[in-house]
Amino acid sequence: MVAVTVKLKLSPYVILESMGKLKTKHLLSISDFTPDEVESLLDDAARLKGCWLTTLKNKTLAILFEKPSLRTRVSFEMAMRQLGGQTIYLSPAEVGLGQRESVADVARVLGRMVDAIACRTFAQKNLEELAEYSGIPVINALSDYEHPCQALGDLLTIREKKGKLKGLTLAFIGDGNNVAHSLMLACAMTGINFRIASPKGYMVQKDVLLKARRYAKTTGAELVCNTGPVEAVQDADIVYTDTWTSMGQEAQAEVRRRVFAGYQVNNELLKKAKRDVIVMHPLPAHHGEEVAEGLLDGPRSVVFDQAENRLHAQKALLARLLGE
Ligand code: CP
Ligand code: NVA
Repeated sequence: MVAVTVKLKLSPYVILESMGKLKTKHLLSISDFTPDEVESLLDDAARLKGCWLTTLKNKTLAILFEKPSLRTRVSFEMAMRQLGGQTIYLSPAEVGLGQRESVADVARVLGRMVDAIACRTFAQKNLEELAEYSGIPVINALSDYEHPCQALGDLLTIREKKGKLKGLTLAFIGDGNNVAHSLMLACAMTGINFRIASPKGYMVQKDVLLKARRYAKTTGAELVCNTGPVEAVQDADIVYTDTWTSMGQEAQAEVRRRVFAGYQVNNELLKKAKRDVIVMHPLPAHHGEEVAEGLLDGPRSVVFDQAENRLHAQKALLARLLGE
């Protein structure tokens, strides 16, 4: 006879009792949360790891994507399954957001049939319109402006690897893009010092920087955005990079390869960082471009834990946004 051991880490009732309602109905920007809510979502994410619940029984998430995805789609699909809910995937070719049909009409139709929308789109305005017209929670699954779910998974990973957030230093090397925007805000909200080295013309947007500065005033985080890669990584705890060419910018790839040539994360650059530095990347990576060939397979890379943590972070998010 085979003995079967069932290991339940924590009772679902204990887990759910600890979860309060969020102030926001939607997650369009990481700044829709209060700093306290970010921290408590990370606590929930850690608690929910490996738990299969029925909290979202009878709840359906529409996954409406205008761009390709591996991690975001699979993590939302799995998060809903692990919470007892279901998903409907709507691919880039299907809906034609704002082309086949207006964003407002798509929103109103989905609002009649499903319980929430996770949308990956180009314009942040599309997310705002979905939120305005659908009547149901809308989650930014990446826009050209922000990638807040990525930032949640990133913070969870940093906290697991370093045991804390406040007082650490993160150096972002590369494009001041959607990932950089959400991460800069997330760092400023949680007291992580944030330095970003980007070529001229590819820096973070001013409005996001101003918002981050307001958070940094209250948490004491230092923000530096006018620096080179070597200065940025000096004594850093975390070195982070992302693709030089984001989805939708493919026509600029050649130009960007030239502009960003001096912005590769490699062993030479990492010598300036702390000895126990970790290397992060949201993936997909372009090995040999923004990150040296082989670096993400090495001991300092945490990119696959980081990818997995998207699932745990979004599970906490969905439980809090959609749970009764
Ligand atoms: N990091 C991330 O969002 O990956 P996908 O584009 O594969 O979803
Ligand atoms: N900046 C990248 C992130 C991919 C997860 C993009 O938008 O394509």
